[in-house]
Amino acid sequence: MTTSMRTLQFSIVMLGIFFLAVFMLLEQASDHRTVSSTGKTLIASMRKREINSVHQIDSSVKIEISPMNTSRPEVKVTLSQTSTSTTATTPTTISSTTSTTTHPRQQDINNLNKWNYILKNALEAKRKVITFLTKHVVNQHDFEYVRSPVNACVETKPDILFAVLSAPGNFELRERVRNGDIGEFVRTTSNGARLLFFTGAFPCNENATRLQTRLSDEYHNHGDIVQEDFLDVFQNLRLKAVSMLRWTHTYCSDVKYVVRMDDDVVVNVSNIVRVMDAKSHQYPDFIVGSIRTDWRMSRRRSDPMTPKEDYSNFTFPPRFVLGELQGYPATTVSLLYHAAIRSEPILLEDVFLTGICATSVDVPLQSDPDFVFRHKPIPKKKIE
Ligand SMILES: *[C@@H]1O[C@H](CO)[C@@H](O)[C@H](O)[C@H]1NC(C)=O
Ligand SMILES: *[C@@H]1O[C@H](CO)[C@@H](O)[C@H](O)[C@H]1NC(C)=O
Ligand SMILES: *[C@@H]1O[C@H](CO)[C@@H](O)[C@H](O)[C@H]1NC(C)=O
Ligand SMILES: *[C@@H]1O[C@H](CO)[C@@H](O)[C@H](O)[C@H]1NC(C)=O
Repeated sequence: MTTSMRTLQFSIVMLGIFFLAVFMLLEQASDHRTVSSTGKTLIASMRKREINSVHQIDSSVKIEISPMNTSRPEVKVTLSQTSTSTTATTPTTISSTTSTTTHPRQQDINNLNKWNYILKNALEAKRKVITFLTKHVVNQHDFEYVRSPVNACVETKPDILFAVLSAPGNFELRERVRNGDIGEFVRTTSNGARLLFFTGAFPCNENATRLQTRLSDEYHNHGDIVQEDFLDVFQNLRLKAVSMLRWTHTYCSDVKYVVRMDDDVVVNVSNIVRVMDAKSHQYPDFIVGSIRTDWRMSRRRSDPMTPKEDYSNFTFPPRFVLGELQGYPATTVSLLYHAAIRSEPILLEDVFLTGICATSVDVPLQSDPDFVFRHKPIPKKKIE
């Protein structure tokens, strides 16, 4: 090999390195101008007004950047199902497409800078939630289903789920709900609503078999009861609340929102639905209901609902929503379920879920003068 050939070879290599360096610099410069690699996609999306991106963190946690409108980017932590992946989520990852749009308008760049700033802060704010959701489960809820209408939300694809917590023996109260305003609302198919009752198992005594047979008959007639095999006693109210969250998260996650209520309360259905629609447009996640700010005042000390252990700590929690009536989007249901199995429980389930768990996953509490309930007297219980 001659010296001149070696020089030529060397020159070609050097030239290659030079071009590579220039290319990298240019690339960096363009990245710098669009602030981040997501910038290009954001600009393109902003022009098309369809910004919506999802970052998968692991199999169960993903971050969704979903603006309520183009002037307000929201960072939303969404949980996909871990167990039965019936609806596999295909994350639309942000891809840095080849630079076809090289000259973003100044207005777009300004918007983008504003966006990146807000997103950075919003992501930072969600870091605590994401860290919390990667914690170990301390409180597994793995009861067996006795009754589970798994297709309840598949056949009709409802927008609204009325989830009524009921004691298994409350046959008359359930019938009253079915025949009342909620039942009527649900029967009007154009309302896109579904009514389901959530309950536990009868206490073991000489009547258990007979009562369970009656409940099974009721299930076969109406198909609207979810029953888990935890003992349905007052101390297990939290299990009933979590059973509703788990079932909805697993089998009804496509509803827009869930209205949870007790079987002895009455509400103005059209007001409830209107409030849920309005709140859903305002907030990606929330719990709406009657907020109590001083839980010690709202529950008498002598009340069996307020055990001494729960009283021992005077500093928590600041606010919670009463359990009789609560409304939340389906995404909040999933967040609350995952928070519940990662938190040390206390007996008062509404304080637990809406005070402690909601805080861990950064879900705000809301109230509305039209989102209210009253107790309806319970009819004299017939001797079974
Ligand atoms: C978009 O969000 C901003 C900030 O919350 C709000 O002020 C504005 O009214 C919203 N615009 C629309 C069209 O909803
Ligand atoms: C529900 O409230 C609305 C307005 O607040 C009222 O017009 C309507 O009559 C109420 N419905 C019932 C069933 O009470
Ligand atoms: C009491 O509250 C504090 C502050 O929220 C918390 O760190 C502590 O773990 C609580 N103690 C009990 C027994 O729950
Ligand atoms: C079982 O049912 C009978 C008849 O209705 C009733 O008298 C009895 O109190 C019930 N037993 C229990 C433990 O509830």
